[in-house]
Formats: sequence, structure tokens, C-alpha cells
Amino acid sequence: MMEMIVIYGSQYGSSKDYALELAKNINCGCKDYKEVKDLNNYNLIIHVGGLFAGGIKGLNTTLKYLAVQAKLIIITVGISDTTSKVNIDNIYKDIKRQVPSNILENTLIFHLRGAINYQKLSVVHRFLMSLVYKQAIKVDPEKRSEEDKAIIATYNNKVSFVDFAQLKPIIDAINNLI
Ligand SMILES: Cc1cc2nc3c(=O)[nH]c(=O)nc-3n(C[C@H](O)[C@H](O)[C@H](O)COP(=O)(O)O)c2cc1C
Repeated sequence: MMEMIVIYGSQYGSSKDYALELAKNINCGCKDYKEVKDLNNYNLIIHVGGLFAGGIKGLNTTLKYLAVQAKLIIITVGISDTTSKVNIDNIYKDIKRQVPSNILENTLIFHLRGAINYQKLSVVHRFLMSLVYKQAIKVDPEKRSEEDKAIIATYNNKVSFVDFAQLKPIIDAINNLI
């Protein structure tokens, strides 16, 4: 019997929206990582977290409480193009930094596209994004990565790529597991 839970780490809401929709579809509970104190009763943990300068929000907490026998699914939510192999490879490198290899080899990973609204960014995040933008704009247009392109295209704007249809392959994969 699979006891599963969806945990989200979300600053601006898109990871939370995806997590709630996913939990509804696979019929399980859903929690903010900040409320997680114990995961011993679960053998399938699905972590949905926003990408912030390479880190996946809340993932360290989930890893801390993950039971040894539990299976982990990581779902990243970022602004960059999730169909780009280069982008996915970059995200994977970031995940490798956060997740011990013995856990990672048994972990399923998926990517979703989130949203950004510069008017709603925290002061620190707005400043960080201005630095990232300055770096991206310096790169020769032909050599820009998908992340550079996404940053430039969305800078100072409000854009949302949130689309629950992106959850379909994830729901299918989870239903195959359980
Ligand atoms: C400071 C900052 C850093 C970010 N870094 C990345 C990144 O490295 N890769 C990416 O794809 N998106 C990045 N984003 C975009 C966020 O991942 C995107 O806004 C996502 O929807 C955030 O999730 P949330 O809405 O659940 O908080 C960044 C956004 C901010 C504000």
C-alpha cells in the first residue's frame, strides 16, 4: 500500500498551485514544507519546489525527514523552458548538489514551468534578478542559454507559464507506480 504525500516549497504560489492540483488528481494529502515535522508514515514523497538560483525550495527539509525506504519524486518549477535539454541538464546538476547520490539514483524527476511577477518580488529577489539580468544581457545573443533567454524575455514583466496540462505525464507516472 502506497502512503503518499505531496510537499511543496513555494514563494510566489505557482509550485503550491501545481502541488494542490497534483494531490487532488492522485488523491493524497498536500503540505507546505514548512509544516513538515515527520514523514515516517509515507513511502512515496512527491516534492514540488520552485527553482531559486539553482536551489529547489524546501527540498532540504523533505530530504531531512525522508524515511529510508521511501521513494522520492522531485518536481521542479522554474521560469526556463522545460523542453530544452540544456536547461534540464542544468537543473539536474543543481539537484545533484542537493540530493545524496544513493537517494538520487532511485528518484524520479519532472519539470514544470512556473511564473514570475516582478511587481511581487521581494526586495532581495528583485536585486538578485537585476544581477542575473545584467549577466545574461552581457552574453553574446547566439551563446545565450535557455535560462539567459528566459530571464531577458521576462525581465521586469509579469509572465505565467502555469498550465495544469503539464501535470498529465506526472500523474500518469505516479499512477503507474501505485
Ligand atoms: C531570485 C530568483 C531566482 C530564480 N532562479 C531561477 C532558476 O535558477 N531557474 C529557473 O528556471 N527559474 C528561476 N526563477 C523563477 C522561479 O523559479 C519561478 O518564479 C517559479 O515560479 C517560482 O516558484 P513559486 O511561484 O512556487 O515561488 C527564479 C526566480 C527568482 C525570483
